[in-house]
Amino acid sequence: MSKSLVAYFSVTGTTKQVAQNLAEAIGADLYEIKPEVAYTTADLNWTNKQSRSSVEMADMSSRPAIQKPLPDMKYNVLYVGFPIWWYRAPSIINTFLESFDLTDVVVIPFATSGGSAMGKTNEALSPSCVGAVLKEGHRFSVHTSKDELKQWSESYNLGK
Ligand SMILES: Cc1cc2nc3c(=O)[nH]c(=O)nc-3n(C[C@H](O)[C@H](O)[C@H](O)COP(=O)(O)O)c2cc1C
Repeated sequence: MSKSLVAYFSVTGTTKQVAQNLAEAIGADLYEIKPEVAYTTADLNWTNKQSRSSVEMADMSSRPAIQKPLPDMKYNVLYVGFPIWWYRAPSIINTFLESFDLTDVVVIPFATSGGSAMGKTNEALSPSCVGAVLKEGHRFSVHTSKDELKQWSESYNLGK
């Protein structure tokens, strides 16, 4: 029997909605990845090279801290959701994944975006998923139905 967690990071609520629908659709637990220091609107300005998000995303070793991290990973299947930032996952997702022993955990990324697909997501997440099985994820529209999300999760054939 597999136990699933839907963990998500969302600044403006889009990914949060998809994550909530996914967790409800598949009966998984839900956890919000909250940064220790919240992102302000100025932090998110991608047209400013000096903004916090631009600086963090330009540095592959950046690991923004998480507020109240989960103590351990007691799930076999980890859906991890985030907004696409600069064609990949925000680096706080690396922080999150690196805080666990992910041996044999199936990690399935999902995202929302302004239009980009998953891009370089797995390339950038893979070094943070030591021992895990990192699957190719999917970018969803905020309007994706619970039924569609359930069907998507079943496409990984992970069983109940
Ligand atoms: C710093 C930053 C970088 C972004 N980079 C991209 C991108 O490369 N491609 C894209 O389609 N959208 C990009 N977006 C848009 C977000 O992915 C999109 O608005 C997302 O749905 C927001 O999710 P949230 O409401 O859960 O935070 C970016 C947004 C920010 C703030």
